[in-house]
Amino acid sequence: MKATAVAHPNIALIKYWGKRDKDLNLPAVGSISLTLDTIETRSTVVFREDLPEDRLLLNGETASPAQTQRVSRFLDLIRSKAKLDLRAEVSSTNNFPTGAGLASSASAFASLALAGSKAAGLELPPSRLSELARRGSGSAARSIFGGFVEMKTGELSDGTDAVAMPLDDAKGWDIRLVIAVTSHSEKKIGSTEGMEHTARTSPFYQHWVYQSQQDISAMRQAIFSRNFQLMGELAEYSAFKMHAVALSARPALLYWNSATVDLIHYIRNLREQGLPAYCTIDAGPQVKILVREADLQDLLEQLHHLRAVKEVIVTAPGPGARLITEEDD
Ligand code: PMV
Repeated sequence: MKATAVAHPNIALIKYWGKRDKDLNLPAVGSISLTLDTIETRSTVVFREDLPEDRLLLNGETASPAQTQRVSRFLDLIRSKAKLDLRAEVSSTNNFPTGAGLASSASAFASLALAGSKAAGLELPPSRLSELARRGSGSAARSIFGGFVEMKTGELSDGTDAVAMPLDDAKGWDIRLVIAVTSHSEKKIGSTEGMEHTARTSPFYQHWVYQSQQDISAMRQAIFSRNFQLMGELAEYSAFKMHAVALSARPALLYWNSATVDLIHYIRNLREQGLPAYCTIDAGPQVKILVREADLQDLLEQLHHLRAVKEVIVTAPGPGARLITEEDD
């Protein structure tokens, strides 16, 4: 009753911000993402007879009661599907900063969905794994798959059609996503709270939801036609629109720090000088930059001159979640 799985974070190019159902964690808008390589979460789940309660180790240390409770609630979903009444020991390790807008919940719950279901004796097909991962975190549904992935809002009230599906494996596409880390501190307002607050108080929220399908269709076109410029422009547009809606909440949600703003100006200037790079930002201060492989070295050289950038992580399109056998280790 033990299994280990690896999953990679994904970065949304068309952003998810807003829920149509809180309990089932159903998104109000669709989203399109790119799964990354290089950075990953590895989770091991063991169901054991001798445990009085679930245990969670995060990066080798006992997790907080709130984190353990969130994982325990997620394991309850697996236990009820598998008709299992055992507690589990979960160990999750990230090879990148946790909780600072680097999509750690996506890779965490995607790896947990796969390792947990397997350890419980379930063989779930990818769409059901995506549905399960979504219950842990909306963006986790996308990390089940590699390359470009689309998350559907779905229409059914039970959420069985609110799942992600692969769009394009990105093979042969020379794109890179560079993460410029501007702060290592954990964000203060999590995405769920931020989304609820935005939906409740922003006068622009309904319009954000209303327009989202257009953005999804345009991004699909950009991906299928492998049009890097259009993809970059649409990704920036969606990210800034999401932050504009969050900023229009009352009180405003501001996830950026001054280094985030400096970087946005910097990327725009690079573009004016002929280096095609585009940025996207999630519920945190990090700036993720889309660039072609041919321009990567130029971009990295430029970033190294900026004191605002604490760390740079270079990623390329990566694979979906997968089980790790002992021979793989
Ligand atoms: O999956 P969650 O609940 O952490 O929400 C993710 C929200 C954003 O990262 C801001 C956007 C997205 O689509 O990933």
